[in-house]
Amino acid sequence: MSDDVVSVLFGREDIRRRIEELGRTITGDYEGRAPVLISVLKGGSVFLADLIRAIGLPLSVDYMSLSRYGGAAESMGRVRIVKDLDDDIGGRDVIVVEDIVDTGLTLGYLISVLESREPASVQVCALLDKTARRIAPLEIRYRGFECPDVFVVGYGLDHRERYRNIPELLAVHDFSRLEEDPDLLLEHLPDVSPAP
Ligand code: IMP
Ligand code: MG
Repeated sequence: MSDDVVSVLFGREDIRRRIEELGRTITGDYEGRAPVLISVLKGGSVFLADLIRAIGLPLSVDYMSLSRYGGAAESMGRVRIVKDLDDDIGGRDVIVVEDIVDTGLTLGYLISVLESREPASVQVCALLDKTARRIAPLEIRYRGFECPDVFVVGYGLDHRERYRNIPELLAVHDFSRLEEDPDLLLEHLPDVSPAP
């Protein structure tokens, strides 16, 4: 497929190396503490799975699922909690783990909800930061990569719920092509030969 339509933004090795660095930084910053890492379903779950194995701390994990009313512009950051955390975060050191921060509206809402529960601290670790599209100003303490203003799929990120299992992060430069032909990225799925 032509590079004008889809290209590899970050390959497996880029992702692995960057997560190792993030893990080392977080391990140092939280020395002597036991943070709770909160993943926002579903996109953040792949990143979380790799990130926790790069952190040498007695951490715990919890999950939250959010849904936005309409698109970014209409919703103005109004978000509904579809699945709440299992455990109380009062007094805990919280790290929110996100796949990608785009407008920042979802994360901005989430942080305000978490802060109302009086944790000891709240920081954000995002794999991708699409700064060009930010509406809500946010501090992202731990950032994997700066992301250009393109649609990204793979490594947890979906297009219409598919392609989360592509091992690389792909940049879709021609989004209308993908909308016309949603099967466009099938060739990027893991190349697995079924057991005989
Ligand atoms: P925000 O509220 O605009 O920051 O939206 C963030 C959420 O939108 C992310 O957690 C993703 O689930 C989704 N999202 C934003 N950009 C992309 C993308 O390029 N590909 C796939 N999902 C995206
Ligand atoms: Mg997300």
